[in-house]
Amino acid sequence: KNGFGQGASKLQFTAIPAVASDVDALTVPAGFTWQPVIRWGDPIFNDAPAFELGNQTAAAQERQFGYNNDYSDILEIPGSKGRRALLFANHEYTNENIMFPASMPAGQMRAVGAAAHGLSVVELERKNKNKPWSYVQGAPLNRRYLNSTRYELTGPVAGADLVKTVADPEGRWINGTLGNCSGGTTPWGTILSGEENFNGYFVAPGTSAADKRYGLTNKATARQWELDDPRFNANNAGYENETNRFGWIVEVDPFDPTSTPKKHSSLGRFKHEGANVIVAKSGHVVAYSGDDERFDYLYKFVSKAKYREGDRKHNMTLLSEGDLYVAKFTGNAPAAEIDGKGTVPSDGSFDGTGEWLPLVVGGKSMVAGMSLEEVLVYTRLAADKVGPTKMDRCEDVQPSLHTGKVYVACTNNSDRGKPGKEGATEANPRNENRDGHIVEITETGDQTSTKFTWNLLMVCGDPSTGDVTYFSGFPADRVSPISCPDNLAFDSVGNLWISTDGAPSGIGKADGLFKVTLDGPERGRVEQFLAVPRDAETCGPIIHDTERSVFVSVQHPGEEGTFEAPNSYFPDYVAAGATPRPGQVRAPRPAVVQVFPTDA
Ligand code: FEO
Ligand code: CA
Ligand code: CA
Ligand code: CA
Repeated sequence: KNGFGQGASKLQFTAIPAVASDVDALTVPAGFTWQPVIRWGDPIFNDAPAFELGNQTAAAQERQFGYNNDYSDILEIPGSKGRRALLFANHEYTNENIMFPASMPAGQMRAVGAAAHGLSVVELERKNKNKPWSYVQGAPLNRRYLNSTRYELTGPVAGADLVKTVADPEGRWINGTLGNCSGGTTPWGTILSGEENFNGYFVAPGTSAADKRYGLTNKATARQWELDDPRFNANNAGYENETNRFGWIVEVDPFDPTSTPKKHSSLGRFKHEGANVIVAKSGHVVAYSGDDERFDYLYKFVSKAKYREGDRKHNMTLLSEGDLYVAKFTGNAPAAEIDGKGTVPSDGSFDGTGEWLPLVVGGKSMVAGMSLEEVLVYTRLAADKVGPTKMDRCEDVQPSLHTGKVYVACTNNSDRGKPGKEGATEANPRNENRDGHIVEITETGDQTSTKFTWNLLMVCGDPSTGDVTYFSGFPADRVSPISCPDNLAFDSVGNLWISTDGAPSGIGKADGLFKVTLDGPERGRVEQFLAVPRDAETCGPIIHDTERSVFVSVQHPGEEGTFEAPNSYFPDYVAAGATPRPGQVRAPRPAVVQVFPTDA
């Protein structure tokens, strides 16, 4: 691609200094400003009531933007000359303690909280390409995906006994999606979203190897939806398999509000952070996905059929059938040099070779003693049998469309090297890994290859406080401190952007968004672009650098406070005693925000 290299981007900025973690502000670089695109509770449909803080109803919430936006993307509506677009956002979970007054009836809290989960698609408009976006209430493509929305299960598990319930004796139709964390946008313009911590929504026997491996327990859940709907308790007759219907990659077509969204069993079932797709030279599509749990694995799916440019209907079937692999990393430094502190081995870099170990090939199980359906439903158990590398919580895994190299955000792993737990290795080089690291994978030949080489792009931390860090050789005294990488994105010239989740308990700074130069003499340079308000994580970065515009999902601002005693007022920042303007409230609300030049 032309123009690769950090100097080529139109989005130039001076890095902001790290922000203290108790600052309740969205901090952006000099010359930039920000405003919300859409906030929790904003009415999406014409019949949607205005947001009513403290008195939300489920019926209202079903017609409004949901809570805790995580993955987001903006797709231009073809033919609109850049003036109309779609915003996709998922809604990972709810923070009842700050959403509702303690006096609200528990049943009402449960119902509103449930309606605040799922997904949203909302149309955006702007006057011209240099102006910020506004969302359009009542636009034809607007849609809320709720717990009652029907998803079609695709692939080998569709129709299998392992996913049948009394409500779905066919084992093909699943209501709702839960714990949606990150995602990805496919080359054919659909959105993928990862069902991550679904286990927290279910009571289950908790005794089987699978229940234990997936964190399913026989305890009341935090939100207690099991009181309202029997399917959230797998001890109930007829719902023994309900938990097997979550933990998948979801695909939605945001351009068709009547379409049936899908859950793709071919990509396996685990705590999917998200999934990102690249078309290999051979035409097969490859999807990478991380399992975000301490000591869990990195996966890759290779489609059976090939991508056809312009044939959207065909391309939307590609994730239904293919091969599934799990990654094994081998280091090449003497083991004694990996001292658990992250110092660079004597061969100059953390690097080595790797192999994609087969779990499913050609529609057949490659795992002894497990059927195809079992491998895909109990993917963690299947992977355990083939010896992949235990990773430090893989969050986003994203291929660069410029180079084909794949970036893996390992967010942290407080248990690495603790008694009875695996210690540091070259690919996960730090014991009690507080700040995380980024792995860079180079597939050997075509993207569908089963062999790769790898190196670490960075080992995160705050060098100014003495943390042992590594930035591909870039001087540590010239980088922004960074901790707990989570979501990844690329700009149009191939720079990597990283949003973080957990920096307050890592380096003691607010979470933020960072640009990382990958190419040339400045490779490894980290520059902080923004910091999010108190208690928030930074999610869903969208880098429209050609328009000098950046979008992030600000998730769970003020999470550590209470409704009665908030510790964030993002994004409306209504002053104490002031009369809120229409639509504004004096309380924290998750929101998708846009950052743009003050001269726009
Ligand atoms: Fe929901 Fe892996 O973060
Ligand atoms: Ca999150
Ligand atoms: Ca090495
Ligand atoms: Ca995440």
